[in-house]
Amino acid sequence: MNLYIERIADILSKRDDPPLCYVHSFGCQQNVSDGEKILGMLCKMGYGVSADEESADVIIYNTCAVRENAEQRVYGLIGGLKHLKEKNPDLIIGLCGCMAQEEKTVEKVRSTYKQIDLIFGTHAIQEMPRLLYEVITKRKFVYDTNEYKASGSEIEAVRSSSFKASVPIMYGCDNFCSYCIVPYVRGREVSREPKAVLEEVRHLAEKGYKEIMLLGQNVNSYGKNLSEPMNFAQLLRRINEIKGDFKVRFMSPHPKDMTKEVIDAVFECDKVCKHIHLPLQSGSDDVLKRMNRRYTSEQYMDIVSYIREKDPGFSVTTDIIVGFPDESEEDFKATLDIMERVRFDNIYSFIYSRRTGTSAADMPDGISDEEKSERMTRLLKLQRSISEEHYKRFVGKTLEVLFDGESKKPGLMTGKSDEFVIVEAPADESVKGQRKKVKIIKSYNWALYGEIL
Ligand code: SAH
Ligand code: SF4
Ligand code: F3S
Repeated sequence: MNLYIERIADILSKRDDPPLCYVHSFGCQQNVSDGEKILGMLCKMGYGVSADEESADVIIYNTCAVRENAEQRVYGLIGGLKHLKEKNPDLIIGLCGCMAQEEKTVEKVRSTYKQIDLIFGTHAIQEMPRLLYEVITKRKFVYDTNEYKASGSEIEAVRSSSFKASVPIMYGCDNFCSYCIVPYVRGREVSREPKAVLEEVRHLAEKGYKEIMLLGQNVNSYGKNLSEPMNFAQLLRRINEIKGDFKVRFMSPHPKDMTKEVIDAVFECDKVCKHIHLPLQSGSDDVLKRMNRRYTSEQYMDIVSYIREKDPGFSVTTDIIVGFPDESEEDFKATLDIMERVRFDNIYSFIYSRRTGTSAADMPDGISDEEKSERMTRLLKLQRSISEEHYKRFVGKTLEVLFDGESKKPGLMTGKSDEFVIVEAPADESVKGQRKKVKIIKSYNWALYGEIL
């Protein structure tokens, strides 16, 4: 065990009441996965888990930097913690994640947010115990944003779910899409050794996890610089051989690195869910070029055609950015056009947010905010009508659904089908965490309704 985890455990064991910690992760699943590791270390030290900030002795905000307004929200929340610190001067507040890795953050916190005690960057997760130990013993502000290599990949997580787990297969990103801050705050792409990935999946399968999500910013470029050479398709096949009653998903593949070999593996591996989330971002070749995505709309369509030749009903979802600098009405129409050609099951759409430090931040932008929101409305309207039509293909079919909670409607439980569509069905709490066969009776533009067989 880490020396500093032991030292803190020793200090905490002398306290009458076990202290509590609160870790909140913002942003993507990669961050949530890091948050589970941070919680894992705190629990090893002897901290209990608090349901909110109010009763916590240690608060950690694991932040996202992808959109500027997400950052503003975090600073707002930190401002709100000031009164807790006044009530309880022993309270320790930490900031980590992608915002912490940005150069300006340490300075800003030092000058304006003095309630913060420690900052650690995305590469320094395993340094958290040392920093926390310094805060506890010396009561001073500490930070570490160095780029360590290991990035905490082998720390044992305390997972929030007992049936769904994510497993990072790679860290960082080399793509530098012109709008995106991730490569700057997560560093260069590093793949995790297959042995470690397979071991973790095996362990989760043995513990009875029903769904495992393989994580990375560009999962299908997996395998660069490994000691045991392996590409993403091969990794999927190896995972498929692991015994157990579980299914596998992955997020996100990049269109420029999508190979037939990966798609063939998805079709041929029975443990891999029949759904691909393939971020498009824009349907305009000019915008794609300025985004530095390195594929054209036709290349994207070729991938979709290869998938749909194998299975015309195969589920595809995507990410779209609306209002990239100087996106013309023509460009936007090209996005709507490709949406109609692909017929996505669902889209995750974002209005472009200018990120200081990225290359798109310096691009001239003549499109007004009103125009951008108006385009977003049109995009969402189109997607609703596509989903409404497209979901009808499931009516009368039997889908496998992993139930994960109660629906807002009384008497119904909700979950995701292997195709990544929300399904609701009459059931009680006992189905939570279980995969059930559901006969689909009705479809809406956002979900399916059925009965458990
Ligand atoms: N690595 C993943 C995406 C990670 S970020 C990929 O390439 O698909 C998740 C999504 O946030 C992106 O797909 C993009 O649609 C959106 N996004 C990233 N930066 C953005 C920005 N500056 N403004 C608006 N949306 C952004
Ligand atoms: Fe960002 Fe592009 Fe990397 Fe995705 S692939 S994390 S959008 S730079
Ligand atoms: Fe946000 Fe960092 Fe993920 S910027 S989207 S939390 S990699």
